[in-house]
Amino acid sequence: MKRNILITGGAGFIGSHVVRLFVNKYPDYHIVNLDKLTYAGNLANLKDIEDKPNYTFVKADIVDIDKMREIFREYDINGVIHLAAESHVDRSIKDPFTFARTNVMGTLSLLQAAKEYWETLPEKFEGKLFYHISTDEVYGALELTHPEGVPAPFTTKASSEDDMAYGTEFFLETTKYNPHSPYSASKASSDHFVRAYHDTYGMPTLVTNCSNNYGPYQFPEKLIPLFINNIRQGKPLPVYGKGENVRDWLFVEDHARAIDLIFHKGKVGDTYNIGGFNEWKNIDLIKVIIKTVDRLLGNPEGQSLSLITYVTDRLGHDMRYAIDSRKLQSELGWEPSLQFEEGIEKTVRWYLDHQDWMDNITSGDYERYYVEMYKIR
Ligand code: NAD
Ligand code: DAU
Repeated sequence: MKRNILITGGAGFIGSHVVRLFVNKYPDYHIVNLDKLTYAGNLANLKDIEDKPNYTFVKADIVDIDKMREIFREYDINGVIHLAAESHVDRSIKDPFTFARTNVMGTLSLLQAAKEYWETLPEKFEGKLFYHISTDEVYGALELTHPEGVPAPFTTKASSEDDMAYGTEFFLETTKYNPHSPYSASKASSDHFVRAYHDTYGMPTLVTNCSNNYGPYQFPEKLIPLFINNIRQGKPLPVYGKGENVRDWLFVEDHARAIDLIFHKGKVGDTYNIGGFNEWKNIDLIKVIIKTVDRLLGNPEGQSLSLITYVTDRLGHDMRYAIDSRKLQSELGWEPSLQFEEGIEKTVRWYLDHQDWMDNITSGDYERYYVEMYKIR
């Protein structure tokens, strides 16, 4: 059977890396990238592959179920990798309805369209897969029982020996859902619908929950690209609260490799956590970014530390995320390829070398949103 794979949200940050990987690695597959091109979708992320014969772009809204039905029929879709979503926590706090619409209703429309189309085929669900990309935020927040950090109890080949953990607990695939933000509540709800379609109708589904991604093509409302760009422009760096929150960072291409592996080898109906045991306190991470940007720009060391500006904390700000990805490592043999220091160097270089990409999206509407959101200039 020829693989015709629908990748939703392929013009966004992670989606564009997944589309690029699949289009280049699998010339025999037909990759259909479906994206509404919201503020976060950018076809410039895919310039290098847009003319490939095995690639098609469709501009559509996943909430539009009739359009989804049409796409399944027209392209005879037999696999879905669903990344389309509203993804920014701060926006969800201002506008929760858009998150419920896209993340919940959009996922439901896609599930229903897939089910209806696959049920018309003689082989029905045989050989099909609906793979839903989710987040570690659905598990809630972990406590900071070791604010200064202790040696990390788990490692991957890509971890460095001095990796730290900031608490004793980690998110497992079995951890109870406990979302706090409108964003994570909407993602949790969509995960439940995916599992409900598996348990009720026997749909072949899979869910993965990944930690914070970083790397090229991330929209500059998220911490790392925002701060790289602000340092370059000498603008304030808005650190929420005391900068003590902890996030677990994974290079985006390592996430895309995990998605490829799980799409082909993962157990249908199962869940896998994806993360590289790479916890960083925000303020420590910010200092690494400052050091790297200053060095690459030829600034005196520490010059941009003065840009750090402590601002009012994010409402309901989750303290710590930390993924336990040992199941994925032991069952499917995945591990991240890059140590964090290499990943950050590569990422900072990429943004500094692609200022046109950045400038194109930080002008106009986005600039206005940013000024309003952070009340700084
Ligand atoms: P992103 O915001 O960069 O991209 C989202 C993409 O979805 C955009 O191209 C946007 O145009 C598209 N989209 C939004 N609404 C749509 C709609 N109604 N119909 C069709 N397309 C629509 O997001 P990202 O950071 O690349 O995240 C992708 C997925 O991965 C999301 O589901 C997110 O929850 C999940 N995730 C993200 C991270 C992370 O650190 N960024 C970590 C774990 C999981
Ligand atoms: O954990 C996975 C999640 O990671 C994904 O599901 C989300 O889609 C993705 O946006 C990301 O969520 P976060 O809220 O963790 O990412 P963000 O880059 O917005 O923030 C990272 C940390 O930095 C967080 O503790 C808030 C803080 N922060 C963020 C911004 C934008 C600041 O201190 N200042 C800022 O200006």
